[in-house]
Amino acid sequence: MNTLIGIGISIINHTFVSQLATLYFRLYTFDPKNMRIDIITVLPELLESPFNHSMMKRAKERGLLEIHLHNLRDTTPYKQGQVDDYQFGGGAGMVMMPEPLAVLLELLQKDRKYDEVIFMTPDGLLFDQKTANNLSLKENIIIICGHYKGIDDRIRQHFVTKEISIGDYVLSGGELAAAVVVDAIGRLLPGVLNDETSALFDSFQDGLLAPPVYTRPADFRGWQVPEVLLSGDPKKIDAWRHDESLKRTEERRPGLLRDDGKGE
Ligand code: ADE
Repeated sequence: MNTLIGIGISIINHTFVSQLATLYFRLYTFDPKNMRIDIITVLPELLESPFNHSMMKRAKERGLLEIHLHNLRDTTPYKQGQVDDYQFGGGAGMVMMPEPLAVLLELLQKDRKYDEVIFMTPDGLLFDQKTANNLSLKENIIIICGHYKGIDDRIRQHFVTKEISIGDYVLSGGELAAAVVVDAIGRLLPGVLNDETSALFDSFQDGLLAPPVYTRPADFRGWQVPEVLLSGDPKKIDAWRHDESLKRTEERRPGLLRDDGKGE
């Protein structure tokens, strides 16, 4: 039965709605899938801390996510760990050479099939929740972190399947951007969050920003929690949250709203 539903879902998997359906399906049936992410970098130290705390640590400890960091200098065929060189045509800034990247990529691809080879770059497609949802359904992913002026374009043409930017600004390397992407994907894997449904109600999951949240005390310095949240009436609370989500989205990110104002 599970297989049938899985096949049905994968047929319509190209739409955002079906992605969400697949996420729901996996979270509610608790279909834990071990995901493997291989990250190619010249600065593995930069990535050790982000993956050794909080949710990513839990994901790894629960065997839901494997993260493998590969120092490009360890496998480069060039002497003294060389991985970059001057760019043809002149100009400031070094370029990551094709050979060290190709050697490492082929080494990894010999052992398993990868669903995506992602290159982190400011000229890639802007990362969003839809892409995170989509990537969280994959099994094996390689992420290449660029440095210096970037990587030789032939690697982009012949190995890379997806180019991702986390925003319209330039970081000194792709590592911090890769950490953002892995975190956004990792928390969507079933079993990583303790409240299994909460990832589905994040900002952006329904095309809207999340509503405001409150905790105790109900009266803090005379500032009151909205009455409705203390009413114990789930219908009223849901309706209030939806209205607040719409209001926030209209005020802060009107571009997220479709023409009918309801979000995706
Ligand atoms: N590398 C440098 N800047 C970046 C960005 N904004 N997004 C992804 N990778 C990057």
